[in-house]
Amino acid sequence: MQYVLYFFITFCFSSISQASSDIKESNGEALFNKHGCTNCHGNNGIHPTSNYIPVLKGKQIDYLIKKANAIFSGEHFSNKTRFMHEQFCIGNKLPDEGCYPIPDIEEIKAIAQWLGSDLPKKKKTPQKLYVSAQQAYEKLEKLGDKALFIDIRTRAEIAFLGMPTNIDANIPYLKAGDFSEWNERSKNFKLYPNSQFINKISELLKDRNLSKSSPIFLICRSGSRSAKASKLMYIAGYTNVYSVVDGFEGDKAKEGPLKGQRAINGWKNSKLPWSYKLKHDLIFF
Ligand code: HEC
Repeated sequence: MQYVLYFFITFCFSSISQASSDIKESNGEALFNKHGCTNCHGNNGIHPTSNYIPVLKGKQIDYLIKKANAIFSGEHFSNKTRFMHEQFCIGNKLPDEGCYPIPDIEEIKAIAQWLGSDLPKKKKTPQKLYVSAQQAYEKLEKLGDKALFIDIRTRAEIAFLGMPTNIDANIPYLKAGDFSEWNERSKNFKLYPNSQFINKISELLKDRNLSKSSPIFLICRSGSRSAKASKLMYIAGYTNVYSVVDGFEGDKAKEGPLKGQRAINGWKNSKLPWSYKLKHDLIFF
């Protein structure tokens, strides 16, 4: 009996230590930090340190691997990747000159796996198309009238907080009532589903001669409602829906003097164009 127990303990112990060394080698988060990816893409790849740097968290794993390989091999080179090339030991630069080693293919895979699966659950969408406010702005500039940009916040929000100037329409996903009912879970007034949400989107698409597979960008306060709306749209057959992960106002700061305030990312904090003046035809179309 003692023998069996001894065997059992050694077996478990060795399999635990085996497992933990595996985890160490393939820990995407540790590799992301070690290679200095956080210097630009921010902690967790979700809060980039500058407007022109993309959000990585939550993107499709295969997409991240392909892109990272293209950047590190020099196959994809742009004004922006130039900064990345400066930080890494590319060409004749050696680590002792203060550059960071380029991650190898296995490391890139581990990083991508970690990034791809770790967007907060409430911000995940079945389409898996995520953009920061800045990226949404750039993509929309390029796409012109081939895409729709929809603000899905309540009328109360756009009335008092303003709205991006390049919006195609305000179609609320949730509606505010008369602020007479309380929601204890959200510690705020109760909101109600807008039963006309999908109908209005399909009307707008028709209006613009676009189809269900056209790119549609959704923005809300900070990326949770737009994820819920993306889910509903997915069920209704809309495959190309982008969720702006940081929304109009952005996420709340987790520490520092602005803790609890929406001061770190989002459309407004990224200094993208918006206004308190609303356009009548974007709201009642
Ligand atoms: C010095 C700043 C900087 C560092 C450090 C950096 N990146 Fe980037 N990264 C960028 C910029 C800027 C872009 C946008 C490039 C473009 O659009 O041409 C980018 C783009 C990417 C993309 C493509 C994302 C997309 O949506 O197209 C991936 C993937 C990526 N980086 C991964 C990494 C990884 C992994 C590391 C660490 C090993 C890293 N980056 C380190 C600046 C940086």
